[in-house]
Amino acid sequence: MSDRPNALSWAEYYQRTGGRPPRDTMLAALDAFDAEGGAPPERRLAVDLGCGAGRDAVEMLRRGWLVLGIDAEPAAIAGLLALPNLPGDARSRLDGRVARFEEAEWPACHLVNASFALPLCPPEYFDALWARIHDALLPGGRFAGQLYGVRDSWAGRAGMTFHTAAGIDARLAGWRVEMRREVEEDSTTVRGEAKHWHIFHLVLRKR
Ligand SMILES: C[S@@+](CC[C@H](N)C(=O)[O-])C[C@H]1O[C@@H](n2cnc3c(N)ncnc32)[C@H](O)[C@@H]1O
Repeated sequence: MSDRPNALSWAEYYQRTGGRPPRDTMLAALDAFDAEGGAPPERRLAVDLGCGAGRDAVEMLRRGWLVLGIDAEPAAIAGLLALPNLPGDARSRLDGRVARFEEAEWPACHLVNASFALPLCPPEYFDALWARIHDALLPGGRFAGQLYGVRDSWAGRAGMTFHTAAGIDARLAGWRVEMRREVEEDSTTVRGEAKHWHIFHLVLRKR
């Protein structure tokens, strides 16, 4: 699970979680591209929305992708651009941008990855962001990431977006669904607080 407890700064969050393995949704999307063949990885661009300090970006770079990380936090982008132990030419394939989801722009791309990030988009901006993600993807491009459900402990928090199952499904038009895994479980936050998680793990392919 991933989250940022209230009292933890994003910088501390990145420190605690930065070395953890990449997300399954991102791995599934990369595997699906590999299985299809097509453009070689070094000609594929992934935009990592809410990239944090780059735990997914490391893997995309390792697998040869071009990566543009976008995050509202300067500390995230600083961490991303300073990632240690990157393979060979990876640094030349990596770029980062400080921007909020609400106004961020990015070039046409093959993958928009947004691991545990889009729930932090304020609800009044969510649908425009969702449409921008779809529009920015090249044909056959993919979205990978998580959205939160309405039974999540944090539902109702100001500035965050939560969805019913029907609300999720309504937003899947225009996509071929490769993964839609709804998970509810009780566990803990990075800070160790008990929490009920209601998460939709999504991997979607643009039709
Ligand atoms: C829970 S972290 C996830 C980080 C990383 N994707 C991961 O899987 O570990 C969410 C990230 O979204 C960023 N974020 C939160 N609200 C944002 C916004 N409105 N615009 C852009 N980034 C935002 C935070 O700075 C943070 O790095």
